[in-house]
Amino acid sequence: MQIAIVTIFPQMFDSFVCEGMTRRALEAGQLQLEFRNPRDFTEDNHRQVDDRPYGGGPGMVMMAEPLNQAIGSAREAVRGRVIYLSPQGRRLEQKRVRELASEAGLVLLAGRYEGVDERVLEAEIDEEISIGDYVLSGGELPAMVLIEALVRYLPGVLGNEDSVKSDSFSAGLLDWPHYTRPEVYGEHQVPSVLLSGHHEEIRRWRMKQALGRTGQKRPELLRDLELTDEQRELLDLYRRESDVQES
Ligand SMILES: C[S@@+](CC[C@H](N)C(=O)[O-])C[C@H]1O[C@@H](n2cnc3c(N)ncnc32)[C@H](O)[C@@H]1O
Repeated sequence: MQIAIVTIFPQMFDSFVCEGMTRRALEAGQLQLEFRNPRDFTEDNHRQVDDRPYGGGPGMVMMAEPLNQAIGSAREAVRGRVIYLSPQGRRLEQKRVRELASEAGLVLLAGRYEGVDERVLEAEIDEEISIGDYVLSGGELPAMVLIEALVRYLPGVLGNEDSVKSDSFSAGLLDWPHYTRPEVYGEHQVPSVLLSGHHEEIRRWRMKQALGRTGQKRPELLRDLELTDEQRELLDLYRRESDVQES
């Protein structure tokens, strides 16, 4: 997958590309990143990319011309949808990540200041994506959030492809609990079923936990799912066991 990022702070990505899954994806050739800095498309000595808003008011606005040129250059390098990371966009969810992961290329625009001259959005942007209902000072971290989520779907990047399938939200449920050594930590023992070696029982336990904790932590996710007979049975069992523990 090729991704071009339009940003005035490309150095913010320096450590992001050197660590973890992003690095692995880059080294495996599954991910290629390009950067376009709007400042490189200015002609004045100050390399100015922002100006005061028409109509007055606080802050500065990113100017259309350097942005349009930077986006144009990014599009020449990478063919694909142009996405503006914006608090006004559709909130990012796993389903959209999965869909976008099948694209060959994306151009991501990271805004700064009060945002971007609206005419750039009208002319150049295919989609706006928000990472949540709060406002950051720039789109660089949201771009990294999106890229890191995408990278998990690229072939050969995660050590184990099944990780993605059991991740929270992949099947509409939260992930089940995980344990690793030691078997006893303080007074807490790893659930015995996980030590049993009985694959079918482990599968059912994990499914039960995923259903139960989704019902407890994010009940609205469960409401959107059509559960199988087995899942309904396991959810009932989880709830009965929780009631017994609480009483
Ligand atoms: C200070 S914000 C501008 C906010 C804008 N005035 C508004 O209220 O809609 C500057 C930039 O940060 C990015 N940004 C801030 N919060 C974001 C979020 N929740 N999701 C995605 N991008 C965000 C956008 O690229 C935006 O152009």
